Amino acid sequence: MEKIKIIIDNKELEAKKGQTILEAAKENGIEIPALCFHPDLNIKANCRICLIEIKGKKGLLTACSTKAERGMEVITESPEIRKARKINLELIFGQHCEECGDCVRNHNCRLLDLAQEYGIKSSRFSDRKAEFPCYNFDSALVYDSSKCIDCRNCVEACARQNVHYLEVKKNKSFYEVVPSENPKRDCIYCGQCLVHCPVGAFEAVGEFEDVEKPLQDKNKFVIFQFAPAVRTSIGEEFGMTAGAIVTEKLVGAIKKLGVNKVFDVSVGADFTTIEEAKELIERKPSELPVLSSCCPAWVKFVEFYHPEFIPNIATTRSPHIFLGSLIKSYFAEKEKLDPKNIVVVSVMPCVAKKYEVIRDELRINGLKPVDYVLTTRELAFLLKKKNIDFKTAKEEKPDIPFGVPSGAGVIYGATGGVMESALRTAYEKINGRPLKNFNLKEVRGQKAVKAATLKLGGKKIKVAVVNGLDKIEEILADIRKKPGLYHCVEVMACRGGCVGGGGQPVPVSDKIRAARAKSLYNIDDKAGVRLAHKNPVVEDVYRNFLTSEEKIKFFCHTKYSKKLKEN
Ligand code: SF4
Ligand code: SF4
Ligand code: SF4
Ligand code: FES
Repeated sequence: MEKIKIIIDNKELEAKKGQTILEAAKENGIEIPALCFHPDLNIKANCRICLIEIKGKKGLLTACSTKAERGMEVITESPEIRKARKINLELIFGQHCEECGDCVRNHNCRLLDLAQEYGIKSSRFSDRKAEFPCYNFDSALVYDSSKCIDCRNCVEACARQNVHYLEVKKNKSFYEVVPSENPKRDCIYCGQCLVHCPVGAFEAVGEFEDVEKPLQDKNKFVIFQFAPAVRTSIGEEFGMTAGAIVTEKLVGAIKKLGVNKVFDVSVGADFTTIEEAKELIERKPSELPVLSSCCPAWVKFVEFYHPEFIPNIATTRSPHIFLGSLIKSYFAEKEKLDPKNIVVVSVMPCVAKKYEVIRDELRINGLKPVDYVLTTRELAFLLKKKNIDFKTAKEEKPDIPFGVPSGAGVIYGATGGVMESALRTAYEKINGRPLKNFNLKEVRGQKAVKAATLKLGGKKIKVAVVNGLDKIEEILADIRKKPGLYHCVEVMACRGGCVGGGGQPVPVSDKIRAARAKSLYNIDDKAGVRLAHKNPVVEDVYRNFLTSEEKIKFFCHTKYSKKLKEN
């Protein structure tokens, strides 16, 4: 990309042609305050916090919407700029009911930092939106409209998911973002509104208080299981860099909560891979393509918006539900525990999993496979509340038997990971020998759709990986037109896959998602076992517990149904 010279605060710097001043400044280590800007979304320039001066131009301009030009001289700090920013901050506080103690952004709030820096007394504005409602989106999300500053990032994020559940309506002197009353629109719980909101108006439904109770109860056997994506993101909540691999610190910190066992959901992913690969190999041509089933937001999208595709969704249980089902059956039997006394808590990058766990069709002998879901952020909050220092936590290994995953189970956290794991296993099942190169680069990376044709022995397998729901309608229309177009399609509702999930640390960007994903691939590269079906614990469970087709169907599969509006 062509480079140009610009001057910011009297320093000559290089910028890329076409870049905004906000981006050019950031790349050169100059932080211009900004609230509504998000690199994933269109520039709306409506908070007017990123004001700057440009020599030779009249008035103040917004850095997020002004392109850098050759020779431009930019000033980012002056008494006039500060005064204008302060007025704009006061206007924003005029729209935002602070409840900082409970806020998702509590430890990481740009608005609060700016209020302090600019000497804003936010209490002056109390009660101005007190009558604005809170909305619950089933058991997954809470939206507090009294905190909304009308940047409309959530509305765009939801529209990009092809959901269009959030709408703007006028309420007295404010514009209000509201959930749609249209019976044809419903939330799918992906949480993308949440991770794009600059002021914490959305949050996952909190469950950490419910989790504290069984931890105090001696009759309960409490098992925490953590998802693949959490190991390379939770460090961010404690000041570590995006992509820091903290698997063993995570286990050590969770153990300090007083839990009985800590298991790795990546082992559950190994089981899921085996069943999904079987579906890919065994389904009749008329039942193709197999659509992945790991992402509950995507499953809800199909059940609500496109029930005609329900027969295509893999019936295989998602990894944490799969493992929860085995914990309350195989593990309970082995350890002579009453499954009723086992409490399974999943630590997930996801808010949709809070909705998934209450689905009745997943129950095993009347019991929920997973009792509670904590998001990555929620676990970090719980650890901080208990004064557990994550950075210095003793490194410990997850517990046996579900503590050692294959590398294939770990990459589930990144877009393309589910497909890559299933193809590694399917290849060997079809050909009787393993793939020469396990790294299927065709399905990796941040592109919205990755289509590839792979030769699995004599057979050509056509696959697509859909990264976020931005392009989903086009893919579904293509499949409708040409049913044989793909054998298998992986869809993860969140951009980047679960590393970019609605339960992950904020802020997020493609750079952060890529760093989190890269570390998952690094773990896979170094893993002793890189094929799900070669994981010794998986082999053992199939040999000794999942011994018949009936048992496999009962413990490892589920069903779906058309859904009507729930919110
Ligand atoms: S959770 Fe997803 S579907 Fe629901 S409102 Fe937010 S962005 Fe839209
Ligand atoms: S809820 Fe958050 S993201 Fe949505 S418009 Fe309000 S401030 Fe912006
Ligand atoms: S992509 Fe992952 S984090 Fe996002 S909704 Fe789906 S399962 Fe949850
Ligand atoms: S960040 Fe530029 S106007 Fe909001």
